[in-house]
Amino acid sequence: MILVTGGAGFIGANFVLDWIGATGEPVLNLDALTYAGNLESLASLANDERHVFVKGDIGDRPLLDRLLAEYRPRAVVHFAAESHVDRSIHGPGAFVRTNVEGTFTLLEATRAHWATLPAQEKQSFRFHHVSTDEVYGSLGPGDPPFTEKNTYEPNSPYSASKAASDHLVRAWHHTYGLPVLTTNCSNNYGPYHFPEKLIPLMIVNALAGKPLPVYGDGQQVRDWLYVKDHCAAIREVLARGKVGETYNVGGWNEKPNIEIVKTICRLLDEMRPDSAGSYARFITYVTDRPGHDRRYAIDARKLERELGWKPAETFETGIRKTVRWYLDNADWVAHVQSGAYRDWVATNYTDRSAS
Ligand SMILES: NC(=O)c1ccc[n+]([C@@H]2O[C@H](COP(=O)([O-])OP(=O)(O)OC[C@H]3O[C@@H](n4cnc5c(N)ncnc54)[C@H](O)[C@@H]3O)[C@@H](O)[C@H]2O)c1
Repeated sequence: MILVTGGAGFIGANFVLDWIGATGEPVLNLDALTYAGNLESLASLANDERHVFVKGDIGDRPLLDRLLAEYRPRAVVHFAAESHVDRSIHGPGAFVRTNVEGTFTLLEATRAHWATLPAQEKQSFRFHHVSTDEVYGSLGPGDPPFTEKNTYEPNSPYSASKAASDHLVRAWHHTYGLPVLTTNCSNNYGPYHFPEKLIPLMIVNALAGKPLPVYGDGQQVRDWLYVKDHCAAIREVLARGKVGETYNVGGWNEKPNIEIVKTICRLLDEMRPDSAGSYARFITYVTDRPGHDRRYAIDARKLERELGWKPAETFETGIRKTVRWYLDNADWVAHVQSGAYRDWVATNYTDRSAS
């Protein structure tokens, strides 16, 4: 089996579903269930023995030691993190604790476990670190997209904490020989995305007739990747990536935020027309985020050249699927908004959690 950290979050949950669907290999899912962890996203696996859920913190070394010894995973895929830039501005401490200290503890526990493995298992073992393009900083309008060779210039407490974790992972390979892989991915979107992030927030607010808050002039450019394409990329890198290497993952979909918002309004106008007029009437410009990076863009050619990975979705197909998913899963959204998703743990997973 593999150990997935943060598998109840947005990308982690998509990954667990994708992994079990594509490979059938069991997953040990370790997640602290912060506000961002939602086991309701994994409801379809509630009676599936291939999904073992443990509520716990990646900073808990005794728990990690026990899980690694008991389940003997052949790989660790590390998603667990504090991930919201705005939250990192208001409370950076949690980002340093989980993203830096938590990753350190996970690396140390993994290294101790890895050292005990027989030669062949030791050789095939992998620690896959899931990171972000935000570690590279901000691009000007004419700059080429980020490659794996870009210098690290993180600008927010979030990206600084992720950059620090990337450096730890790199050092654990170079110093201790731990077989690591790192992927730096652009903005993801798709099902099960917590509605504090741009795309789900806009869909959910528009449907509720609430303002669609656009930061500053809305011209911040991001590269968008459909989350299932990211999951497929991680599967490829885990299977065939070169140990010690980093791979950029991106969708070749650079868009300014305002265009994203207008596209969502257009799709909602088509799929759920409002007799009072276009949802675009709710667009409201608000004060920009401090230190807001202007542009991120990813050059994902290394991953295509070396491992043959390319995104399957264009932005047009992916965003259409995403809007459809939010329209079809109003219960999931309502439970997140009311906080009822937390009850899911008690009703469905209590006896699955480690004591
Ligand atoms: N969302 C994106 O667009 C994006 C893009 C590139 C990279 N990433 C990276 O991918 C990973 C997952 O991102 P996401 O958007 O799914 O995040 P998320 O915030 O939706 O999920 C994070 C998960 O980690 C869990 N968690 C937090 N602290 C923990 C701890 N101390 N111990 C155990 N579990 C803990 C949470 O409960 C949650 O389930 C992160 O490492 C993030 O930096 C995200």
